[in-house]
Amino acid sequence: MKFSFALAFAFVLPLIKAQVPHWGPCPEPSVQPAFNLKQFMGRWFEIARLPAQFEKGRCIETNFSSRADKSIRVVSSEILKGELRKIEGTGVVEDMKNPAKLGISYSYVLPYSPYWILSTDYVNTALVYSCTDILRLFHVDFAWILARTRTLPEATVEKARETFENNNIDMTRMIATKQQGCDKDL
Ligand SMILES: *[C@@H]1O[C@H](CO)[C@@H](O)[C@H](O)[C@H]1NC(C)=O
Repeated sequence: MKFSFALAFAFVLPLIKAQVPHWGPCPEPSVQPAFNLKQFMGRWFEIARLPAQFEKGRCIETNFSSRADKSIRVVSSEILKGELRKIEGTGVVEDMKNPAKLGISYSYVLPYSPYWILSTDYVNTALVYSCTDILRLFHVDFAWILARTRTLPEATVEKARETFENNNIDMTRMIATKQQGCDKDL
């Protein structure tokens, strides 16, 4: 596995540049009730996202598994310029009363970023949101539509987008992630 420090570092940059900040504090979306972390584990493909500086490639996916110390091993990968790139991070449940509100960090020098599961049926789709307040004056956010398969019906994607919008999350800049030609040899 090739670990790219530059890629890890890139996870800090979005806070500084590239993202279009929104005025006001983060929205407070509702999250998946009775979230079951065990069922959430495994492989998720990224179907669509809000633009993020650290994601440039295609075939983006994340694999969640549990480590012996109960932390969550988070392995994200993408294909960029014909090369498979992987990055490993750590996920934690920060508050047992809110198990759907995970924190993920891709380097021990970085703080945990929010990784909230807004809704999931565990077997088809998951809606994930991450928002960081900056002085409560504005906020920078990320959103992902994940699926257990590389593609989803258009209507399912539209419904997911509406769920975000109903939680006051602006999805007008949502872009689809390319998931074509991913399983053949590079
Ligand atoms: C996901 O991670 C688990 C645990 O490390 C591993 O056994 C499995 O092969 C991985 N799956 C994929 C698709 O990478």
